[in-house]
Amino acid sequence: MTEKACVTLDGRLVDVYPGDTLLDVAQRQGVDIPALCHDPRLEPAGACRLCLVEVEGQRRMVPSCATPATPGMVVRSKSEKVNKHRQTLLGLYLTDHPSDRTQCERHSPCELHALADVYHAPTHWQHVEPLRTGRDTDDNRFLTFSADKCILCAKCTRYCEEIEAASAITLAYRGPETTIATVDHHQLRDTDCELCGGCVDICPTGAMAAVLPTRMDAPPRSQLEKVRTTCNYCGVGCQLDLHVDKKANHGRGKVVQITAPPPGSTTNDGNLCVKGRFAYQFIDHPERLTTPLVRRTDGLLHPATWEEALTTAAKRLMEVRDKHGADALGFVSSSRCTVEENYLVQKLSRAVFFTNNVHQCAAT
Ligand code: SF4
Ligand code: SF4
Ligand code: FES
Repeated sequence: MTEKACVTLDGRLVDVYPGDTLLDVAQRQGVDIPALCHDPRLEPAGACRLCLVEVEGQRRMVPSCATPATPGMVVRSKSEKVNKHRQTLLGLYLTDHPSDRTQCERHSPCELHALADVYHAPTHWQHVEPLRTGRDTDDNRFLTFSADKCILCAKCTRYCEEIEAASAITLAYRGPETTIATVDHHQLRDTDCELCGGCVDICPTGAMAAVLPTRMDAPPRSQLEKVRTTCNYCGVGCQLDLHVDKKANHGRGKVVQITAPPPGSTTNDGNLCVKGRFAYQFIDHPERLTTPLVRRTDGLLHPATWEEALTTAAKRLMEVRDKHGADALGFVSSSRCTVEENYLVQKLSRAVFFTNNVHQCAAT
């Protein structure tokens, strides 16, 4: 039997597997290492330098997100030196970041502010006006970029290139003027951008942000309720997190923003398409049906209660079955419904009305 490969992490012997980085090992052990530019779906960039740890025998600290874990390594993720580094770096990041946290986090949480709290980073260092420039007014209705919030972690540009294969946005200029831009400053709609909004979800500071919550003048994210649901635009069934203002619409609630659940937690792995993420204003469209309709003896559709609608449908279905036999009935479902709903339709057809006349568009 071959011996298990191990490293020593904060004094404990822990397993490593081929391909592991030091950050992978730490996260598996529940050891918290701040990592602003890391995302499990992206190649490591080592950009933010927050995840630095000490490795015995190395003169300098190393980025745990980009350092392969090799058997025998002795790693310290918690030490005075590591802690000092995190505090100083976070303090430096804050110097040209919006200092009004309430405004900064109004529509998207800012991981930089959250980490600054955790590590008691200095907040009193002199503020420096950022030299990064924003994008010229972009006429798309969904995405916006605030250069002052950007920490140049390059998660958005890497997401756009590595996951979306669009490369619509890129790091531009040099040194303190480095910013996020499109090639030749084209409008996003004139690039390969698919308006997927992945750059918004992956941005740790809200520099890439959704336009709709601001346009709706929605309450801060912290006052919204998060509701997990299934997208009904196609049969893939991506999971969505709805951010709902419960008090809006006279207490009926209003969906203010949609984000993807964290990568690795659902089948869509933190990704969404333009429809799932941004096309949710139909929910409040005045022409949307919000109550069942029943066709009465005058031949017209009339609003009805759910009880009346269900009783009428059941009665008429049974009348057809009794008069013409079960196979005179047919049940049609949709790939826009959830798998549970589709299961129930076929069960209704087969187990209640005893017919196999049941179909769904994804079955062809
Ligand atoms: S919305 Fe998607 S395609 Fe457009 S810039 Fe962002 S990541 Fe790239
Ligand atoms: S816009 Fe956000 S994701 Fe992109 S580089 Fe700046 S901070 Fe990182
Ligand atoms: S997470 Fe490792 S350098 Fe940013």
